[in-house]
Amino acid sequence: MPAPDTTDPTPMTVRRMTFPHPEALRGQWNPARPEFSHMVNAASLGMPYLEPYLIATMRQARTRITDPALQSEIDLYIGQESTHFRQHQQFNRRLAELGYRSVPEMEAVLKADYAAFGASRSFTFNLAYAEGFEAMALTIGHMLIEDREHLFAGGESSVASLVLWHFVEEIEHKSATYDVFKALDGRYVWRIYGLLFAMVHIMGRTRQGYRALLLEDGLWRSWSSRLALWRLLGRIFARLIPRLLRILAPRYNPKDVPDPAWADAWRRGHGAGDDRLGELDMSRLADAVPVSRAA
Ligand SMILES: [Fe+2]
Ligand SMILES: [Fe+2]
Repeated sequence: MPAPDTTDPTPMTVRRMTFPHPEALRGQWNPARPEFSHMVNAASLGMPYLEPYLIATMRQARTRITDPALQSEIDLYIGQESTHFRQHQQFNRRLAELGYRSVPEMEAVLKADYAAFGASRSFTFNLAYAEGFEAMALTIGHMLIEDREHLFAGGESSVASLVLWHFVEEIEHKSATYDVFKALDGRYVWRIYGLLFAMVHIMGRTRQGYRALLLEDGLWRSWSSRLALWRLLGRIFARLIPRLLRILAPRYNPKDVPDPAWADAWRRGHGAGDDRLGELDMSRLADAVPVSRAA
């Protein structure tokens, strides 16, 4: 099993966060980027079902593992994913309160998907899905942090802060499911199948979700919105594809992927006692170090 990453600026940790969503929160929380807003909203709807499914898989894996270091990596992973889906649950409730019919509809679809995977798929499949999802999440985290100013500037601080916190921690626990997968199975074919399955599943459901939300907002049939969506997808995939291709290498190991400096700075800032990272200063997203509104 690979040695723990000793270059971490802070040890992996479970953080208690507060994201003060305003009364006036709207579905299009970034008015300049309605398509990106609904893409994030659609992905958020899956988290309260996806992340408990990942946790259940890792709990099952833990019973088959005797290495105490790997057990504690699993425990921290579970701790982080538990806080993630609870924060998304709160945000999703706010989206539902805005009256979007597609919110409960998509929630029912996602709930059924993950219940079915948990109940009828093999442990190997569920473990490969977990590692596939985490490998993809690492690439998304890098993309979001690299392009944070373009995607989030002008948007609601609480939502940007929620998403960026989530992915700082996705980057932080990048090795957990990989280490478990390697320890319990390790077959290349399963790792790649898990990646492809998780990608097609999650991206498909996310598209279904943002399509429904954009339809409800009267944007899906607008040419200018559709053009903006295509441009956005082009921009996102231009950053994701080279990173996704690296995962296909048989010797891929998430430990070899250097963390973005901004994510390290976020973790150092939190470690030093900055408890206002749930309220990032949206005019200073381009800074090398995250700056909270309250700073
Ligand atoms: Fe997460
Ligand atoms: Fe994760």
